Amino acid sequence: MKRVIVKSSKKYSIIIGKGLLENISDHILPILKGNNVYIITDDIVESLYISQLTKSLQRNNLVVHKYVFPNGEKSKNANNYIDILNDMAQKGISRSDTVIAFGGGVPGDLGGFVAATYLRGIKLIQIPTTLLSAVDSSVGGKTAIDLDKGKNMAGVFYQPDLVICDLSSLNTLSDETLKDGCAEVIKYGILSGDLLFNQLKKPIMKHIESIVYQCVKYKRDIVQKDEHDQDLRQLLNLGHTIGHAIELLSGYKVTHGQAVAKGISVISRISYNLSLCAKHTVDEIDNILTGYGFDLNPMYSPSDLASAIIMDKKRSNDSINLILVEDIGKCIIRKTMMNELEDMIKKAITKVPL
Ligand SMILES: NC(=O)c1ccc[n+]([C@@H]2O[C@H](COP(=O)([O-])OP(=O)(O)OC[C@H]3O[C@@H](n4cnc5c(N)ncnc54)[C@H](O)[C@@H]3O)[C@@H](O)[C@H]2O)c1
Ligand SMILES: [Zn+2]
Repeated sequence: MKRVIVKSSKKYSIIIGKGLLENISDHILPILKGNNVYIITDDIVESLYISQLTKSLQRNNLVVHKYVFPNGEKSKNANNYIDILNDMAQKGISRSDTVIAFGGGVPGDLGGFVAATYLRGIKLIQIPTTLLSAVDSSVGGKTAIDLDKGKNMAGVFYQPDLVICDLSSLNTLSDETLKDGCAEVIKYGILSGDLLFNQLKKPIMKHIESIVYQCVKYKRDIVQKDEHDQDLRQLLNLGHTIGHAIELLSGYKVTHGQAVAKGISVISRISYNLSLCAKHTVDEIDNILTGYGFDLNPMYSPSDLASAIIMDKKRSNDSINLILVEDIGKCIIRKTMMNELEDMIKKAITKVPL
């Protein structure tokens, strides 16, 4: 078992290990005040794991409530958000009680937003059960729901009081959901350096505890320096500007991880064309991504990708911050004019750097 301490606006622990659900109260009890625990989860996670969680809580005389919604991104919506708040009020959940966001990034983001806003904020425990939520969404305090106009458009920064990552739960993930998480892990490998990057060349589940630990520690270090995403935290968007554009253009048929993998590959070629990195760095990145089974074809024309990027909410004025690669373990944020972007993508896609 490993522990990472985050010292942000809230100080909290992230506990990473196998088989933690069974006796989860050992970790939870020290931070609880009230008797009520309100679990927010989806139907798949409920069917697989909720009994382990509730048994451990009930053994310790806690009153367990749950709100279960259909799995998938569509549930991260305003209707469920309001419905949960009303249900909590109806059940008399008070300011000293606790929300547990249990599952992947969808219960994590929705449950986090509920905890942040119910009675102006109550205790929040994140229990991630997907690889993506373990290394990314459960850490760092971004909470959100989707609006009709786009993903994550309503939300707040709200750090959890505790994160417990039971790696045993990753064993039941579908191949596609695991692969989506692998794209984020590879992103951390490129950002953080050879130690993690080289470890990822071996089968990921063999060293999962060390891998999740390193990803979380990297994110922790960034969040401690830039909790509210003003500058340094943008590094975590490596591959995401183009990835989001691909997701959008595909009508979300291309999953987030698959789109990010394509985005990382394009951005490393852009970096090479700008003479920022060596050809072997581009090759190393492509090799690791294809080794995990990612198809790196960007699928859309440079002009379609550039237009989709312009539509993305993170764009400010006529420039965009691109995350570029200088080497494994060395990425930079560079302000780029929107009118140059299409040309950069065109060169990266059409001119293979050989
Ligand atoms: N807050 C942040 O910083 C942040 C960062 C990255 C992504 N996100 C958000 O995370 C979401 C994506 O996360 P996700 O991929 O975890 O989505 P998800 O929560 O929808 O989980 C994906 C699927 O896996 C299933 N699942 C979860 N745990 C399982 C388990 N242990 N075994 C079997 N099946 C399991 C779920 O039921 C679901 O069908 C998006 O909404 C994204 O916006 C947030
Ligand atoms: Zn991502």
